[in-house]
Amino acid sequence: MALESIRYEPGSLQVLDQLLLPQQSRYEVVGSVQQAWEVIRAMKVRGAPAIALVGCLSLAVELRAGAGGPGPAELAAFVRERLGHLVTARPTAVNMARAARDLGDAATREAARDGATEEAVRERVICYAEDMLKKDLRDNRSIGDLGAHHLLDRAAPQGGKVTVLTHCNTGALATAGYGTALGVIRSLHQLGRLERAFCTETRPYNQGARLTAFELVYEGIPATLITDSMAAAAMAHQGVSAVVVGADRVVANGDTANKVGTYQLAIAAKHHGIPFYVAAPSSSCDLCLETGQDIIIEERPGHELTDVNGVRIAAPGIGVWNPAFDVTPHDLITGGIITELGVFTPEELRAALSTSPLGAGT
Ligand code: MRU
Repeated sequence: MALESIRYEPGSLQVLDQLLLPQQSRYEVVGSVQQAWEVIRAMKVRGAPAIALVGCLSLAVELRAGAGGPGPAELAAFVRERLGHLVTARPTAVNMARAARDLGDAATREAARDGATEEAVRERVICYAEDMLKKDLRDNRSIGDLGAHHLLDRAAPQGGKVTVLTHCNTGALATAGYGTALGVIRSLHQLGRLERAFCTETRPYNQGARLTAFELVYEGIPATLITDSMAAAAMAHQGVSAVVVGADRVVANGDTANKVGTYQLAIAAKHHGIPFYVAAPSSSCDLCLETGQDIIIEERPGHELTDVNGVRIAAPGIGVWNPAFDVTPHDLITGGIITELGVFTPEELRAALSTSPLGAGT
């Protein structure tokens, strides 16, 4: 059975509480936008695409239960207000902000039509949110397939297997299914061309050790866990053929925000001449921001660094800096940016996405 972080049926939404993994698999009911905001903020569900999916589906649940209105314009205003609230839960990943813009615009357009009805606005928003699940899964399969073939052409042109290092969790748990960077690894494995995946522990919150390791074991993919501080040594001594990571926001010049620690991986990969890829759906791209300097980086509470599973490991009294993400400059993304629309160099990204209907960014 495929791993599911989001279980949705019309009118009912549940998320797998990722803070309890790998010890326990427990689903939590999300019955409102406010509950979605809380599970996203607490990182019970996380990963850029999953955040947007849970946010929008929680709105669909509220709308199916009759929230908002009365009247089309009032309902559209309600939709925008709820979406605006969801965007504040975690600011760095662009997917929720982008979905909020698109969904809010769709509601406003529907409400402005001649003879608009509240029911039509409601239906429009619900359908949009419910379609996101299928689209994300479809996009991830394309990313996996396109990325695997690109990576093999680049890193193993004579045939043979590749070893891929990844960071954080970008798999089924972070998306509607299959995953982005982990989707590329999954596709390589299915092609019989994956020697091994290395996953970093991903401090401070250990998404690699808790979640990616769990997914890799669950899927029977040959994999090895390392601490973040072992990555350069693995590149030097363990035959790493490529690094593939996900993204929370890729901006117009290709600079990419992703889980903190990504930047140092890109520097180490460049030093070792190892191609460095970012794998992300076009919904994670934001052509409205020019460079990575414009990205707001979320800072998380210090206890995520000082404590592990509620047990303090750091000396009491020490100060803490805990940015959740860092920005990898585009010139370090030497393999390419793998999207469902193709694999692009950072320089190609803007032109490639502005010709697609999705390209306008937030
Ligand atoms: O803080 P998180 O766990 O939400 O960070 C997740 C990441 O950085 C992922 O790499 C990114 O969201 C892509 S998930 C497909």
